[in-house]
Amino acid sequence: MDLVDDIDRRKKAGLFRSRRTIQSAQGASVSIDNEVYLNFSSNDYLGLANHESLKACMIDAIDRYGIGAGASQLLVGHSRPHQKLEKKLASFLSRDAALVFTSGYQANLAVASVLVDTNTVILQDKRNHASLIDAARLSNGHLVRYRHNDLRHLERLLEKHKNNNLMVMTEGVFSMDGDYAPLLEVSDLCVKYKALLMVDDAHGLGVLGESGAGLLEMLGLNQKQVPLLVGTFGKSFGASGAFVAGNALHIEAFIQKARTYIYTTAMPPSLAVVITQAIDLVVGGNDLRQQIEVLIRHYKEKMMQHGLTTSESDTMIQPFIVGDIVKTTALGDRLYKNKILAAVIRPPTVPKGTSRLRISLTAAHNKEHVDRLVATISNSLK
Ligand SMILES: Cc1ncc(COP(=O)(O)O)c(C=O)c1O
Repeated sequence: MDLVDDIDRRKKAGLFRSRRTIQSAQGASVSIDNEVYLNFSSNDYLGLANHESLKACMIDAIDRYGIGAGASQLLVGHSRPHQKLEKKLASFLSRDAALVFTSGYQANLAVASVLVDTNTVILQDKRNHASLIDAARLSNGHLVRYRHNDLRHLERLLEKHKNNNLMVMTEGVFSMDGDYAPLLEVSDLCVKYKALLMVDDAHGLGVLGESGAGLLEMLGLNQKQVPLLVGTFGKSFGASGAFVAGNALHIEAFIQKARTYIYTTAMPPSLAVVITQAIDLVVGGNDLRQQIEVLIRHYKEKMMQHGLTTSESDTMIQPFIVGDIVKTTALGDRLYKNKILAAVIRPPTVPKGTSRLRISLTAAHNKEHVDRLVATISNSLK
């Protein structure tokens, strides 16, 4: 492949990706090139990434455990903080056990690589995150995708492949659309067809449910109904890393066999300490969840007042669909000129013709921030 040509093609198609270098901590505002930008691009939904007590907790943990784990989990990298975090996660999520990974990408790869054989058909929602798609592609199984949240299509495919081992993988709250998977119905179908269900609720955790335990808590789904739950710490927990939670046998199988668990340096123990503490803030974070609710309603009202359409999403992820790649990028650029960051999302991350701004409302924002965002979108479109 000619890389120069390839990059050139990307530029011409409006698909060139570039990074912005942030000079500050995460928050409702961040600074870039010594200018302050209102930040609607992050997944730090509860505003914990720069939380004072968590920072103090991490500094303290570094004093005690140093900066790194020193090795992979199965050598000498597994420490008391990891063990404590796993226990706390299991109880927070009402699962038998949990296993900590250094990223959600790795956790998803682990699930498919360990639990899938050559006779397995993996059914996935078409809008699943790339890490789930890659997990299936890199496994020994056969990936089949069903239309987004289309239960009839899912059932047709389960019926078609019923002589295979079956696994269904879906996001809980979809990362680019902000809508939910119909998990009660998906779970019923999985029981009917004896399919193993795995839910990646990276975006629902912290934000949904009485105690922030995510979409499964909100819908009252237990471990029997959803045997495997993946979540990440890079979103509502404000940190990084991830876990898989489920029954003890599955967790043991990951420890024994998951290459993305075995052959990588363990999460720094100090990070495990701080995430364990962050769980308490998540559980006690009803005021933060309420603030997000208030902002979602406010955003929708303001958009309507400006004659702008919003999506069906009821969550903090609010896509503003523009459609065309060039127009979406231009809108993102105009917002940037007005010191507002909103993620421009283009294919292949989202389907062709649905390029969008992915607006993420967090507990760190206030109504004035939202007013400024909506007014700027509106003016930019004139
Ligand atoms: C649904 C979903 N799963 C998994 C991941 C990957 O998690 P991580 O960033 O911890 O690798 C992401 C995003 O980062 C995500 O949105």
